[in-house]
Amino acid sequence: MVDLETQIQKAHTLVEALPYLQRLANKTVVVKYGGHAMTDEALRHSFARDMVLLKCVGVRPVVVHGGGPQIDATMKRLGIQAQFVAGLRVTDAETMDIVEMVLGGKLNKEIVALINLHGGQAVGLSGKDANLIVATKKQLYRPLTPGGPPALIDLGQVGEVKTINTGILDVLGSQGFIPVISPTGVGEQGESYNINADTVAGDIAAALHAEKLLFLTDVAGILDGDKKLMSTLNPEDVHTLTRNRVIDGGMLPKVEACLHALTHGVAKTHIIDGRVPHSVLLELFTERGIGTELVR
Ligand SMILES: Nc1ncnc2c1ncn2[C@@H]1O[C@H](COP(=O)(O)OP(=O)(O)OP(=O)(O)O)[C@@H](O)[C@H]1O
Ligand SMILES: [Mg+2]
Repeated sequence: MVDLETQIQKAHTLVEALPYLQRLANKTVVVKYGGHAMTDEALRHSFARDMVLLKCVGVRPVVVHGGGPQIDATMKRLGIQAQFVAGLRVTDAETMDIVEMVLGGKLNKEIVALINLHGGQAVGLSGKDANLIVATKKQLYRPLTPGGPPALIDLGQVGEVKTINTGILDVLGSQGFIPVISPTGVGEQGESYNINADTVAGDIAAALHAEKLLFLTDVAGILDGDKKLMSTLNPEDVHTLTRNRVIDGGMLPKVEACLHALTHGVAKTHIIDGRVPHSVLLELFTERGIGTELVR
């Protein structure tokens, strides 16, 4: 039998959440869902339940998901060699088909189904739906030889966000639906673009003037040179850490998205550990929070 003391502790946890619940009521929280949290079965369920809980307590969650490893696995199965330049997937027409099938067809629907299984009302969207994400071809300049002049690299259908049309998100959010967005964009001629999910999350948070932007990833947060977690960083810290290459690889688009969101009215951004069950709730509703917060 659970003793009374344990019961009271549980009530304390709820009461501790009260000021946060009040502050976040009717506010938008954009969550980039990626990394480990997306592949582990138990964590996928706990993430889906967290989104439903947020909705139930009056927060408006918007989910943007990734899917790099799943795209890699499908390409491998089809015998297609993946190619990356500066961390970006070179996307020819065939690769674009796979990206759209895996992100929009499979992963997006899996996340939607899981949220709905736990009692939410999730709706899956790609950038093409209601022109949510209008994109242009990404222009990347890189020297072809060490020390040589920068040349334009053709990345195929890799896109850059041009505009976010938030209309559909406002309609869905105000009616109690949870939008789940796959990071592909639409060009001016209706063509498809493959866009980094972190970048899309940052742009959507900025366009919605979200209260918070959360990145769920496969590390504890932003780590320093000694692999120790840094709890709070400001834009200046981030610039220094990036220059010194302490922040690198998959963390780069995240911090760039955070900085973009912060300069566009988002109050706080967080990079949190998706390997921890209910990490979103711990960040939003407890005094200590978890992971790294990036603030202005
Ligand atoms: N200073 C840093 N602190 C923490 N992680 C860092 C740092 N610099 C680089 N990284 C790398 O960034 C990775 C997280 O980005 P990654 O793109 O791999 O995952 P994700 O974006 O969560 O998932 P996905 O790309 O599948 O959506 C970490 O696993 C780590 O290797
Ligand atoms: Mg990534």
